[in-house]
Amino acid sequence: MSYDAAMHRVDVGIVGGGQLARMTIESAAHLGLSTAILDPDPACPAAQFANHHIEAAFDDAEGLRRLAEMSRITTFDIEAGDSVALGALEQQGHLILPRPRVLATIQDKLVQREFLQSHGSPVPRFADLPDPSLESMLAFGFPLVQKARRGGYDGRGVAILKEPNRYADRLHAPSMVEEKVAIAGELAVLVARRPSGELSSYPTVSVQPDPATHALDTLTFPAPISPELDRNARALAEQAIAALEGSGIFSVELFVDTDGKLWVNEISPRPHNAGHVTIEAAATSQFEQHLRAILDLPLGDSSCISPAAMANLLGPPELKGKVRIDLSDALEIPGVRIHLYGKQEVRPGRKMGHLTALDADPLNALERVRQARALIRFEVSSEVTA
Ligand SMILES: Nc1ncnc2c1ncn2[C@@H]1O[C@H](COP(=O)(O)OP(=O)(O)O)[C@@H](O)[C@H]1O
Ligand SMILES: [Mg+2]
Repeated sequence: MSYDAAMHRVDVGIVGGGQLARMTIESAAHLGLSTAILDPDPACPAAQFANHHIEAAFDDAEGLRRLAEMSRITTFDIEAGDSVALGALEQQGHLILPRPRVLATIQDKLVQREFLQSHGSPVPRFADLPDPSLESMLAFGFPLVQKARRGGYDGRGVAILKEPNRYADRLHAPSMVEEKVAIAGELAVLVARRPSGELSSYPTVSVQPDPATHALDTLTFPAPISPELDRNARALAEQAIAALEGSGIFSVELFVDTDGKLWVNEISPRPHNAGHVTIEAAATSQFEQHLRAILDLPLGDSSCISPAAMANLLGPPELKGKVRIDLSDALEIPGVRIHLYGKQEVRPGRKMGHLTALDADPLNALERVRQARALIRFEVSSEVTA
């Protein structure tokens, strides 16, 4: 592929300008790559970092066309992009990675499950749920997990219904159901794949979701699991991404059940919250690895350079509005790296940043990131925005 300076103004265009784009752009700068983003929010996290910003909705056909035209390669930081519009741009010869058909497979949780099952990944028993009636749920069997087919993230779009009398908690969206796994632990494996097929996975991460919201709360890297379980988790993740023929970085979420069996939960076609720890704790960060993968450059060393822990910094319950984040006490905790995403407004549960610490004992690292997180103060001005 030749670089057409006349046509392409930047190396990498990103649909979405959230924290994933922001951190990808930081890595792009180290590799001497220029970037553009498409995001409707003029103050989105990546806006301060990108060379060019197209202010348009993620599914704005004209905006997507402009992004693809100005970028040597177009990628995304959200999987909610318009796979049909992106597919049309690909047809016209624009390089979009991961490919829009991969995006389409992943965007619909039912289609994704069917894909994984047909390629031999162990997935919980599942079914389409076109009508979330009590009868169809009883026919599937309780306890069950109802998932919105599209648009869910951070546990929004997932309802765990333990018994029929929890029926009122169901989702009102086109959805699927699956068997509730007796989860002993949640794992994630990041896998990078080049268009040429070369593939590399990171050591398995152990994820601790928030019990109430199911959103990622903390994680340790590498996961405190046996080398055999780590090998098996990575093999399952690599197999799924090879089957997808995905290009770029992917996260594969897995469950280990109380019998020690692994289940594949879901794939994300982009850098993932579970991979933020690789910025400090791996030889190559997931963001750089993503860029290497989509540019078809040699993949970096994915090995762990130190055990580590990460904690997400989420908007506290009931806090909403323009925010100033006071780090002065948190910065006293030694060895903690704080990443703020530059979001000017806080909302309950909104991802505002994350904290990482390295330590030979990952539990010590976990203790430190939790301690520092507890010292971060949100100061909301009285001006509340819609
Ligand atoms: N089949 C299942 N059995 C038990 N718990 C589940 C199941 N599926 C999802 N969960 C729980 O819900 C969380 C969110 O589900 P997930 O499918 O990963 O949706 P999201 O897109 O919101 O991350 C998981 O991390 C897990 O804690
Ligand atoms: Mg998930």
